[in-house]
Amino acid sequence: MKNAICCFLVLFFAFLVNVAFITESNALERTKLWPNMCASCHDGTTAISKDAIREKFQTVDAFTKAVLKKGGRCMNILKNDEDLIRKVAIEIGLKE
Ligand code: HEC
Repeated sequence: MKNAICCFLVLFFAFLVNVAFITESNALERTKLWPNMCASCHDGTTAISKDAIREKFQTVDAFTKAVLKKGGRCMNILKNDEDLIRKVAIEIGLKE
């Protein structure tokens, strides 16, 4: 009987760890800003690609300024959120 309880507890905790892990990886997916918000246009055909952007704007500040001042008109919806743009800059590997 003791064994059965033990076994149940072990399984239960394994289940909890699993749930925590799955929740965590979904959160990671959600923080992928570039693929969700920029990649569809910035594919190198419709607009300048991620690699070209990284070459052209090497710091978070230069990049943020470019998005706010030069980004296409279709990007207006993104331009009121400087924090978001900074997060994207860090996500694609630009330096502070
Ligand atoms: C609806 C399409 C679209 C989306 C979505 C979009 N862009 Fe753009 N972006 C453009 C276009 C079009 C231009 C202007 C290209 C040009 O003038 O040559 C541009 C220009 C830029 C520029 C300036 C490039 C340069 O050469 O000066 C940057 C930086 C930029 N976008 C970053 C972003 C970031 C970061 C995101 C996501 C948060 C994003 N864009 C989302 C279409 C888009």
